[in-house]
Amino acid sequence: MNLIYPRSFAILIVAAVLTGGPASSAEPGLCTSCHRADGRIAPDLAGRPSTELVAAIAAFRSGRRSHPHMETFAKSLSDDDIAGLAAHFQALRTTGPASANR
Ligand code: HEC
Repeated sequence: MNLIYPRSFAILIVAAVLTGGPASSAEPGLCTSCHRADGRIAPDLAGRPSTELVAAIAAFRSGRRSHPHMETFAKSLSDDDIAGLAAHFQALRTTGPASANR
């Protein structure tokens, strides 16, 4: 996937790495800077089954799935963070049918 990231996202990642990631209470805002409803920068996560999100993050973490930004995030998040974020995004309402689901 060839996407151009605005400089602010790079700064966000550096900040996340320097502070050791979003500690115990992972902030969904950290994710929605890229994962927006329009899906232009990254796939929309709203309404997606939490099991699917957890599995995707586990794949980035293990290197089975490769993306420079997501690998960094996946490795900086604790299991609790990932479970919390996945539950958060699953609970978000989507405006239409679950078209983001594949
Ligand atoms: C700098 C931008 C950026 C940030 C911030 C970011 N992501 Fe991502 N994420 C991406 C991109 C781009 C992809 C798609 C990667 C690919 O398919 O190769 C992705 C993919 C994913 C996927 C898989 C989605 C799918 O449809 O398969 C999940 C789950 C995910 N991210 C969760 C998160 C979570 C949780 C956070 C917050 C901790 C986060 N992301 C923060 C850019 C970002």
